[in-house]
Amino acid sequence: MENEEILIIDFGGQYNQLIARRVREQNVYCEVVPNSISIQKIKEINPKGIIFTGGPASVYEQDAPKVDEEIFNLQIPILGICYGMQFMAYSLGGKVKRANKREYGQMNVKLDNKSQLFENIKENNICLMSHTDYVEEVPEDFEKIAQSDTCKIAGMQNTKKNFYAVQFHPEVNHTVDGDKVIANFVLNICKCSGSWRMDLFTKTTIANLKEKIGDKKALCALSGGVDSSVAAVLLSKAIGKNLTCIFVDHGLLRKNEAEEVEEVFTKKFNVNFVKVDAKERFLAKLKGITSPEQKRKIIGEEFIRVFEEEAKKIGKVDYLVQGTIYPDVIESGLGKSSVIKSHHNVGGLPDYVDFKEIVEPLRNLFKDEVRKVGKELEIPDYIVNRQPFPGPGLAIRIIGDITEDKLEILKEADYIFREEIRINDMEKELSQYFAVLTDTRSVGVMGDERTYDYLIALRAVVTDDFMTAKFAKIPYEILEKISQRIVNEVEHVNRVVYDITSKPPATIEWE
Ligand code: XMP
Repeated sequence: MENEEILIIDFGGQYNQLIARRVREQNVYCEVVPNSISIQKIKEINPKGIIFTGGPASVYEQDAPKVDEEIFNLQIPILGICYGMQFMAYSLGGKVKRANKREYGQMNVKLDNKSQLFENIKENNICLMSHTDYVEEVPEDFEKIAQSDTCKIAGMQNTKKNFYAVQFHPEVNHTVDGDKVIANFVLNICKCSGSWRMDLFTKTTIANLKEKIGDKKALCALSGGVDSSVAAVLLSKAIGKNLTCIFVDHGLLRKNEAEEVEEVFTKKFNVNFVKVDAKERFLAKLKGITSPEQKRKIIGEEFIRVFEEEAKKIGKVDYLVQGTIYPDVIESGLGKSSVIKSHHNVGGLPDYVDFKEIVEPLRNLFKDEVRKVGKELEIPDYIVNRQPFPGPGLAIRIIGDITEDKLEILKEADYIFREEIRINDMEKELSQYFAVLTDTRSVGVMGDERTYDYLIALRAVVTDDFMTAKFAKIPYEILEKISQRIVNEVEHVNRVVYDITSKPPATIEWE
């Protein structure tokens, strides 16, 4: 098969993996590479097209990120985005101007839809702008193809060379039809066939892991969720029995979950599967702790301790495998954005971790892409389509301190919620749904008796990428049935509410 690749040159922008995702959505393979990449290497890769990402720098800064300008002589189509456009203009003799004020937000942009880049896109469109510098004069042989009130040259092209550039960000949802801009570039301008499937990612990742880890040993933190299961199976295909999967039952899992995970990984996959029953240990550490961040840190640290102990039992372990996915990376503030929650599988590692390196094969993928990889690997649907479950488990769904009694209440309520969703055939419609045990108690009446019991909140959301989400509009009749069942079947619950907040401003989890 002809090598069809789009090369994304990283200039430090925060949406770079989103660009990669948009390209993959067109069924085209792509790779994000540092701007220090050599021309030789680019020639070896021989991409069908190149995308320059955005970035926070100004082309006039002394150490502004650059790529070897020989890139413009390779006769490969290039799309510059934001800083990428400024870099293209500046390198090819156009004029880039420094503005005093940053332009940020959704702007009305007029697109010249005679340009191939904007084919079949409305002329008057809404695009996300986020920039300070701007192109004041296009380079020779370029023409302007987009403009807004505040940005005279919001897009430019040189059709002879197949160079295109936009000042706005086509990769974000805030740019209406941004996906079509990417599709036009990748499919029409670069002439990619769009025949790539996730199997190439799977094959390449397995090969890379094989090469990197060799005959060393790796330990995988298996939670039984989609991410860690897919990571574990990838690793097991790469290094076989040199992978040990440790499944820590921290006692904060959903009802029956530990048993289900054990069943799948001992019967379906050929991995070293170690189950650690650490419930007492975790609950002791969490006693009296009410702060969400502290809960995450404690659970994260305890996880590592448990792994270290298990690792010692199996001898030298060089790699720790984790199922981190791209939204975890962003939300943990490892990129440019601020810390919202320190996910235990990314941020909360103590300093003295006793592993050579952490391996995160899914770090650049979004959830739906991870599921595609899972399907490729023939992991049962039951796991691949499982809703995400946070590493700290039910600990962050019990508001306030955690006790065994509260855990039991939450497990039962959550089980009923999930069961009713399944019975009503709504699993596929909902991205995530769970119960939360609030620390509120309220007065109720059951039979003739006054009760003073817990309030359960139900949370269900619909989302593609978990970075934004809408609350799910579950029909009232189903909610009514769930509420009746929870109050009747779960002791110490006398009231159920439904969370009708989207993300943002709320997050999906309550803590
Ligand atoms: P939020 O609550 O941040 O959740 O809107 C987004 C997605 O991330 C999951 N989540 C976590 N996953 N460790 C994890 O592995 C965590 O600490 C954590 N906190 C939230 C959440 O369930 C949702 O799918």
